[in-house]
Amino acid sequence: MIDLETVRADTPGTAHRVHLNNAGAGLMPRAVLDTVKDHLDLEAQIGGYEAKAREDDRILGAYASVARLIGADVSEVALGENATVAWQWAFFAQDLKEGDRILTAQAEYAANYIAYLQMAKRTGCVIDVIPSDASGATDPQALEAMIDDRVKLISLTWIPTNGGLVNPAAEVGAVARSHGIPFLLDACQAVGQMPVDVEALGCDYLSATGRKFLRGPRGSGFLYVRKEGLKDIEPYMLDLFGATWTAPDRYEMRPDARRFESWESAFALHLGLGAAADYAMDVGLDAIRTRAFGLAERLRTELDKIEGVTLRDIGAERCAIVTFSHDRVEAADIASALRERDINVSASRPASTLLDATARSLPHIVRVSPHYYNSDDEIETFLREVRRLLS
Ligand SMILES: Cc1ncc(COP(=O)(O)O)c(C=O)c1O
Repeated sequence: MIDLETVRADTPGTAHRVHLNNAGAGLMPRAVLDTVKDHLDLEAQIGGYEAKAREDDRILGAYASVARLIGADVSEVALGENATVAWQWAFFAQDLKEGDRILTAQAEYAANYIAYLQMAKRTGCVIDVIPSDASGATDPQALEAMIDDRVKLISLTWIPTNGGLVNPAAEVGAVARSHGIPFLLDACQAVGQMPVDVEALGCDYLSATGRKFLRGPRGSGFLYVRKEGLKDIEPYMLDLFGATWTAPDRYEMRPDARRFESWESAFALHLGLGAAADYAMDVGLDAIRTRAFGLAERLRTELDKIEGVTLRDIGAERCAIVTFSHDRVEAADIASALRERDINVSASRPASTLLDATARSLPHIVRVSPHYYNSDDEIETFLREVRRLLS
């Protein structure tokens, strides 16, 4: 059970706003905020290199915290600036050639799909979309039927940008493993709102951001790379941190996943990311999922009763992302009217998940993303204001 009073007291932002935009950026707990600020202060007081040297053990501890959060070994974790870059590290390291196939999902995130298109333009590889089942989730059986020896990558967004959907990542991972095909999982919106275990998922790579449901600082993210794959994988770009220049015509890569990183890093943010992972684990990821998913379900039930509202969520399992449109009022107008009342939600564009949005004829939609620290009163306040706005 979550001690709501404590987690709210730990979260300064809850005093000012009803924050239902955790899929945008979660409110940082004070422990995260203080960790970031303290390191910046230290850099200002004693020097950036000197602060890094003094805090080195704690910085390495941030890797250990992220590793623990996802059931990985510390050598399998690289920290970076966001989920997109972490994902690109893994994706652009793939040795794809003309005719090779990438299998991906219908509700794929735009940044990932743009990268597939770029890779297809460069190499002649082919992008094939795995059909969804009747609920709208990626269908592992359909995936199985698509496998041939030209499939060189399976790449899936676990929780897409909009629509509540939780794709069956572990089932997709099982198909990938049974055929020995690399599996890249975008877990950007899953990490921090539910338990994540890279063994159970069977993924070779997993990327995530710090700022969303994990409640870390903006500008932080990470990549997991399975140990067994580390001997073969070479980053598309290497620098003197990822590799050592050992002879005039040679370099040697680091043995661990940090070969994807570069020399200069935002150490304050790395520390903040580690603190966010620790905080989430202290609260408990099972309890977080239960409460966040429960609040979202309540929102769906109540929003569905409002005349003119159409819920836009899909999938058999639905997470703490609730989306809807209204037949009269534009999503952006709903979001900005709520913001004026100190209620944070976001509006999502069809171009964020173009294939899915086109198939479902989605308009711009309102995205409401509660988290475990939201109170029942806050949910009521939001519903009251939405009802008033749309009446
Ligand atoms: C599914 C998904 N993947 C990746 C990202 C990118 O995350 P970041 O902005 O940290 O790069 C997002 C951001 O909204 C997302 O929704």
